[in-house]
Amino acid sequence: MSEHVIIHQAAGVLTLTLNRPDKKNALTDAMYGALSDAMEAAQGDAAVRVVVIRGNGDMFCAGNDLGDFLAAAGRGGSTEANVHRFIRLLGSYHKPLVAGVQGRAVGIGTTMLLHCDQVVLAEDALLTTPFVGLGLVPEAASSVLLPKLVGHQQAFAMLALGQAMDAQAAQAAGLASMVVPNAGLDEAVAKVAAGIAALPPGAVQATKALMRDSEAIDAVILRESKVFGERLQSAEAREAFTAFMEKRAPDFSQF
Ligand code: COA
Repeated sequence: MSEHVIIHQAAGVLTLTLNRPDKKNALTDAMYGALSDAMEAAQGDAAVRVVVIRGNGDMFCAGNDLGDFLAAAGRGGSTEANVHRFIRLLGSYHKPLVAGVQGRAVGIGTTMLLHCDQVVLAEDALLTTPFVGLGLVPEAASSVLLPKLVGHQQAFAMLALGQAMDAQAAQAAGLASMVVPNAGLDEAVAKVAAGIAALPPGAVQATKALMRDSEAIDAVILRESKVFGERLQSAEAREAFTAFMEKRAPDFSQF
């Protein structure tokens, strides 16, 4: 349980809402735990036909909590188990996943979208994956899924150079199914989810399984995790996290 994730279930739709708006919905280990618990339970619950991920406030998600990353670096690079649970669940999830995104989606806020079956973006959505600027590497199989979707050049621009992708570009690139005005996001997401919930669930899940090679995705996640753990312990990453905490620009000139 985490007060920072709101869980709501109605009419076949399980909605998981990130609820830490004062920290821009940055994800803590407890939040990953709550998300994973709810998603795992939903896999075995016939009453859940579709899982929706949302974020409260002006921003979908600011990515992993950087304080947690700094603490993980201090522990020798091992992040808590729940982030791994969450990422591997995303990669192997049987039931359809829908996301509704307003404002920024940073890091895992963006990479989780690569595992969603329908992504609805508000007009102000802005996707960024600033892993390299943090001394890190991509996660959640994004090192393979993103280039597959947008090509190497654009994926490198996002994953390594930290370039942002706006809502229109994301839709054009195939990262989102639709872009709607901010005021219409709730309604659009609810409509997409209700539509999926009304379909025959066995056929939906079988179709999703045919469309995704979960085993290959999991192998990429494991490969990335190993390097990610090593990068977390690097002096480069420590400088990046410390700079964020101290509200200053990082200085990588010493490396
Ligand atoms: N981890 C921990 N705290 C975070 C956070 C994160 N990933 N993202 C935002 N916060 C906190 C800020 O420290 C700030 O806390 P404070 O009010 O106690 O000072 C609060 O959330 C609001 O953030 P702020 O930076 O003031 O909001 P903003 O609208 O100016 O900028 C972001 C929003 C997301 C662009 C900016 O916060 C940011 O770059 N965050 C880091 C994103 C990141 O690198 N994530 C990891 C990706 S792997």
